[in-house]
Amino acid sequence: MEQKNNLFYRDTWVDIDLTQIEQNIISIKNTLPKGKEIFAVVKANGYGHGAVEVAESAIRSGVGGLAVAFIDEALVLRNGGITHPILVLGASRPQDVPLAQKNKLTLTVFRQDWLVEAEGWLDSSIPVKVHVKIDTGMARLGVRTMEEFLAMTDWIESHKGIELDGVFTHFAKADEDDQSFMLEQRDKFVQYVEALPKKPKYIHHSNSGATIKIPDDPTNMVRVGIAMYGLLPSEEMKNEMPAGVAESFSLHSRLIHVKKVEAGEPVSYGSTYHTKEAAWIGTIPIGYADGWLRRLQGADVLVGGVRCEIVGRICMDQCMILLPTEYPLGTQVTLVGKQGTEQISMGEVAAKSETIQYEIPCIISSRVPRRYFREGKDTKVINPLLK
Ligand SMILES: Cc1ncc(COP(=O)(O)O)c(C=O)c1O
Repeated sequence: MEQKNNLFYRDTWVDIDLTQIEQNIISIKNTLPKGKEIFAVVKANGYGHGAVEVAESAIRSGVGGLAVAFIDEALVLRNGGITHPILVLGASRPQDVPLAQKNKLTLTVFRQDWLVEAEGWLDSSIPVKVHVKIDTGMARLGVRTMEEFLAMTDWIESHKGIELDGVFTHFAKADEDDQSFMLEQRDKFVQYVEALPKKPKYIHHSNSGATIKIPDDPTNMVRVGIAMYGLLPSEEMKNEMPAGVAESFSLHSRLIHVKKVEAGEPVSYGSTYHTKEAAWIGTIPIGYADGWLRRLQGADVLVGGVRCEIVGRICMDQCMILLPTEYPLGTQVTLVGKQGTEQISMGEVAAKSETIQYEIPCIISSRVPRRYFREGKDTKVINPLLK
């Protein structure tokens, strides 16, 4: 299949402003004590922004490493030419340790039996780096007792093929005004770290929320995801974001059909919407298969700098909008982002979807091409459909 100049043939796309992501990282970095490293969290295809492109931007902005959820995501980065340290935050299989060794991936460990099994798979003289995860209040992954923790770290210390590179925990409520549970978790974590006879290179607990709330906490690395993309960990944090942090992801489409509809006519599946008066109805080529879910019926989009409502049910590939007047075919429609002085923020879309900001860019599917800009200039288009 020919892909001329990396183009796409349906008028729906995402724009990613890489300069803004770089600015966001620098703004966050400026709030941290000197020497504290940032690992940029680029799991889930860089929260839908593009893992390799975001990783490259993060590296330009001086991060010490990248973090992903599983080995496959780490290999996407390596295949994309990323040579920085990569921490796999989730569980990996013991039999995949050789792959981690070959690709210099750092794995998360949290079970003694995993270590014993993994030892049998080691196949290179270069030790595999691991970070031991401690469960201080998420009940997701992590050791839960000091005995388990010290047994694991002792075991690692006495085995050559596995190297202790870090210890960490993850906060459950770092994005809330009430910091008490986060600080309880932090204090538990400190007890574990203090019990270690020999400290590893990395000691870390902060996601974006905690990075912003407790920047001076004496750890030496932070794992920043959502804030790097210019998005909020929670609505409660809207007045706490470092100056200069702004959204980098915008979503656009174009009018592919415009027609006058009489008063009282039904629009879309199920005829759930009827025009109140004679109206201009536009059709745009984006639907729930693109991640623009049915619950966004009734949300606004921007056309000519003016808010227009999505009317009728959202279909798989298309939806309809109520226009204030006739617009020419091909007019740009912005579903997330700015037109003139109006903005549809990720927060607005998340609120309408009754979810958090994380979810929205993650679910804009790979069917929607991503266009990348740096300093206002078009750098490339990624369209997985035509790869
Ligand atoms: C273990 C871990 N660390 C860090 C992050 C980054 O969190 P945030 O996007 O809130 O910065 C995540 C994201 O879910 C995570 O699971």
